[in-house]
Formats: sequence, structure tokens, C-alpha cells
Amino acid sequence: MTTAPKDADRVIIFDTTLRDGEQSPGATMTFEEKLEVTDVLVEMGVDVIEAGFPIASEGDFESVLEISKRAKDSVICGLARAHFKDIDRCAEAIKPARRGRIHTFIGTSPLHRKYQMQLDEEAVFERVVASVTRARSYTDDVEWSAMDATRTEPDYLCRCVEAAIKAGATTINIPDTVGYATPEEYGALIKMLRERVPNADKVIFSTHCHDDLGLAVANSLAGVANGARQIECTINGLGERAGNAALEEVVMAIRTRKDVLPYSTGIDTTMLMRASKLVSAVSAFPVQYNKAIVGRNAFAHESGIHQDGMLKNAQTFEIMTPESVGVKATSLVMGKHSGRHAFREKLKDLGYQLGENALEDAFMRFKALADRKKNVYDEDIEALVDDEVAHADD
Ligand code: KIV
Ligand code: ZN
Repeated sequence: MTTAPKDADRVIIFDTTLRDGEQSPGATMTFEEKLEVTDVLVEMGVDVIEAGFPIASEGDFESVLEISKRAKDSVICGLARAHFKDIDRCAEAIKPARRGRIHTFIGTSPLHRKYQMQLDEEAVFERVVASVTRARSYTDDVEWSAMDATRTEPDYLCRCVEAAIKAGATTINIPDTVGYATPEEYGALIKMLRERVPNADKVIFSTHCHDDLGLAVANSLAGVANGARQIECTINGLGERAGNAALEEVVMAIRTRKDVLPYSTGIDTTMLMRASKLVSAVSAFPVQYNKAIVGRNAFAHESGIHQDGMLKNAQTFEIMTPESVGVKATSLVMGKHSGRHAFREKLKDLGYQLGENALEDAFMRFKALADRKKNVYDEDIEALVDDEVAHADD
């Protein structure tokens, strides 16, 4: 089985909101909530859904099983450590899937080998071969991850990747588990692996970047520029510590900057806002106001210069349309930085038609109010104008 789309520039979107995302402290979702998120991910066109870690708990097993029965249009993936009991449990959970994937991983860096597992290089290497071989006995869609790949000795990483491919892995994932890499380093790592490892062209290379230094999206895109064709990401960038690469950001970067990122995804971007709101609600993780793409302020403008530009031509201050990510419209937020042009438009929207003098008076009073008040709402402006009109009648 192959999950690789035919087009060489098509990037597979692997969503791990339900696995790595749910591992954020406090982001636990109920069974029903996971199904709700799954339905949105499928409808949005996510290629691979990492539905959970079946050995982790009975609940995780049950949700991966149910998602495998329910979501027939995406590949359903379960995570497993390099232990046969993990892999066997994962295989059971993904069995009903039309297309099921086992994702098995092991720490390859010296730190992980020594402190996490107390295993030497050879012992880890043997586990790579054994785990991928075991997973392949259940499905021909096997992903192997070198946890902490970016802090692993390059020669040893090449050896492990080569062994995983030989044992039957079809996707090779290169996690920047602790968000340590820079885009140049991460891109170079993918390039080096693709050049040095035999049969690298027979598999899909995948990025899995954490955001500890705020570089997860940049690193993922650098990986793609160097030949990776799968990006692992989460809605709202949910995930361990500072989170994972945000799905909405990688997808919109690819869509918006085709000139320098000549790739495509299968995502219906008009569903991004809906997905963001749902994941924020079920995980109880609020989305920061200025978050790229889905933040409340991502399409809001307050300064007079920006509002004036937006009223003349939206491209002056917006590089994508709000509609393209499922936001109804740009919002011109009225505040102390707003100018006359935006104020006049706001009055028109609210149904007022004032003469020039009344408008000027109302604008001055609005400015004075905005200086005192952090947020000026439509009701404030209505009250102010009604008062203005009443005075004019006196
Ligand atoms: O960050 C990581 O290394 C992971 C692996 C399990 C793929 O989440
Ligand atoms: Zn991770």
C-alpha cells in the first residue's frame, strides 16, 4: 500500500492533534470529543490521522479502534514504542481501518540511548529492525521515527534509517523532538539522509518539529524544501511543551507562498477556523489573539493607516483573504488608532448617515472615548452618535 499522492510536489498532511496534541498537559479529550475532531479532520482533507497511542490506556485503544471504523477517507495511524506488545496492540486497534498505519519509534540520540533506555547503539539498532519487521507483519504501511533525530550522530542516524527501510518502513520520520534545530540545520539533515541512505527515494521522508524555539513551522518547511513530503502537525500547534508545528500555518504558508514553496496539500483551507475553534474548545486551550491564521486578530485592523488601506484595497495589509481560512470577513476594530475614513464606514454599517459637521463632532467624541476605553464596541459608537443627534435636535 502506498499513501504517497502521485504528484511529486504534493505534501502529505499528517495530523497528530489526537496523539501528540493530546499529550499537552491538561489537553485530554473525551472519546466523543475525539470523534468530533476526527470528523472535522476527515472533512478538511487530512491525509493521515494519528488517532492515539493504543498501549497507553484502554481509552486510547478504544478511540483508535472507533476512529479506524469510522474515518474511511484518511489513513488511520496508531503510535507504538519499539516493543512487540505495543505494536501488537496498535495493530489490533487499527485493524478495522480501510487504510491503517503503525507508527513505531525509538530514541536514537546518545542522551535517549543512555538515560531513557540504558541501551547501547547496537541494542537500539536491533530494536529498530525488530520493531519495523514486527509492524510490517501486520500492515504494509509502516512509519518509523528516530526520536530526537536532530541530536543523533549523523552516521548512526543513517545506519538506523537504512535498517528501517530495509526492514520495510515506508515512511521515515525525522523528529526534532525538543525543538532544537534551526531551519538550515533541519533542511540539511533531511537532504543528507536522502543523499546518503540507500533506497531513500523509495520512502517518504517526514518532518515532526516541536516549537520550543518557535521554529517548528519554519523547520517543517525547510524539510519539505529539501525533499520531505509529509509534515506532522497539529491544529493550533497543540502538543508537548511549546507544541508541534501548527497545521493551519504550514498549510497556509504553502498556499500563500507558491512562488517560493511550490508544493500543494489536499486541505480545504476554508475549514481551518472551524477546526481551530473545535480543538480549542475540546482541549480547553485558548488560541492566543495574535496567533497566525486563526487568532482573533489575524484579520483585524485598528490603526488608521491600515484601516484606510484596507478600505481602498484589502491587499494593502492582508496577504490572504479571511474567507480562504473560513473567517467571514476582515474586521476593522474601532479604537484610538482608527481614522475618519474607517469611522465613516463604521457609521454607514451601523445605519447612520451624518452630515459633515455632525460627523466631525462625532469623530472627536469617539477619539476622546477611545483614549479612555480599551475596547470601543458598536454599542458605544451607537450611544455616542445617538447622543450627538439628540444634541443637534436641541
Ligand atoms: O516528538 C517526537 O519525537 C514524537 C515521536 C513519538 C514521533 O512525538
Ligand atoms: Zn512529538
